[in-house]
Amino acid sequence: MKLWDKGYDENPRVDEFTVGHDRELDLLLAKYDVMGSMAHIRMLEHIGLLKKDELEILLSALGDILKSAEDGTFVIEDGIEDVHSQVEYLLTKRLGPVGKKIHSGRSRNDQVLVDLKLFMRDELLKIADKTHHLFDILQESSDKYAHVLMPGYTHMQVAMPSSFGLWLGAYAESLVDDMRLLLAAYQVANQNPLGSAAGYGSSFPLDRQMTTELLHFNAPHYNVVAAQMSRGKTERSVAYAMASLASTVGKLAMDACLFMCQNFGFISLPDSLTTGSSIMPHKKNPDVFEIIRGKCNRLQAVPNEISLLTTNLPLGYQRDLQLLKDILFPAIGELKDCLDMCGFMISHLKVNDHILEDSRYDYLFTVEDVNRLVLKGMPFRDAYREIGMQVQRGEYHPVREVNHTHMGSIGNLCTDQIKAKMEGVYSQFAEK
Ligand code: ARG
Repeated sequence: MKLWDKGYDENPRVDEFTVGHDRELDLLLAKYDVMGSMAHIRMLEHIGLLKKDELEILLSALGDILKSAEDGTFVIEDGIEDVHSQVEYLLTKRLGPVGKKIHSGRSRNDQVLVDLKLFMRDELLKIADKTHHLFDILQESSDKYAHVLMPGYTHMQVAMPSSFGLWLGAYAESLVDDMRLLLAAYQVANQNPLGSAAGYGSSFPLDRQMTTELLHFNAPHYNVVAAQMSRGKTERSVAYAMASLASTVGKLAMDACLFMCQNFGFISLPDSLTTGSSIMPHKKNPDVFEIIRGKCNRLQAVPNEISLLTTNLPLGYQRDLQLLKDILFPAIGELKDCLDMCGFMISHLKVNDHILEDSRYDYLFTVEDVNRLVLKGMPFRDAYREIGMQVQRGEYHPVREVNHTHMGSIGNLCTDQIKAKMEGVYSQFAEK
């Protein structure tokens, strides 16, 4: 059955090709489709296009469909094109002609837009919660290992003393900036497209302010063409925020793989969190971090994929836009999994607390020794040369004493200040 049935049959190959993965992907939109319909029909009643009793009957039937969407029993039947058609089909089957009234003043083009905005808003909140949770785990671990030193590298060469507290705390603070981008994407998604209909509005006196309030949007997309153009643009904003977050998590996963390598030997995992080899009996591999790294690298391609799909599309609805769901929906699932697994793995990490005793890290302390001479009154360049010549002659013997006190250094991680910064951003989700 097609909503747009006009008395001729569509070729089944055309149907299969154009419907694509919608029957499966649209299940994720079912709940939001019903919520959008509820707001729309309340508004239709308000402007006199539905009677009070019709509204009540429709709301009750939609309430049942909402329940089925929430408990996972909602299905898109064979032969039904998408979630929008399925909901209207169910209403018409159950209620007869009144079911056919709900589509006045709207199109599937603004219907899918409103579903997507509500979906992305919710998914961004879930991603923000998971990011916040990972942030907390990183800060806890950073606190726990605040005093355990490790080598810091530049150019992959031994550089200066660092600590596990500094390493893990760095990723926590980095997540604050990802959270800012998630918030920005949330604000982009939090605008009401409903009422833009096919893309050019309607001759009915639609009360778009009313649906904006009913759906708790921050504001309407006023211009109906702008509302339609937000399809693709919103997904791209979401994807950019996701890609930024993925780059942080992927980099952390890369560090973990590197630091677990025997040549580094900085961290280890409980055996149960490693994987084995089919031929080498000794293997305990960091596959989880490798999969996180791989998935996060792929996630950074998503904004590009969305850009390529939508670049140079003319204004107005085009069916290409349907494919945005194929790109974005699985990516959201992957990112949430990576955030969960990353937190789980970090909370089980074991650190080696004797790393710096190894003589291969002696040169980590050269700057400490230069600074000690400076504090005794020697000009920096002379002190640099003095220690540099000791190194050159093979006579350098480090004083393994580290005393870093300034803001953000190994001796003063500013965990509380970073926490306050995170809360300042995170709390803004509740305001919008
Ligand atoms: N499945 C479609 C999509 O995601 C729904 C909108 C269809 N609109 C249309 N004019 N064919 O874009």
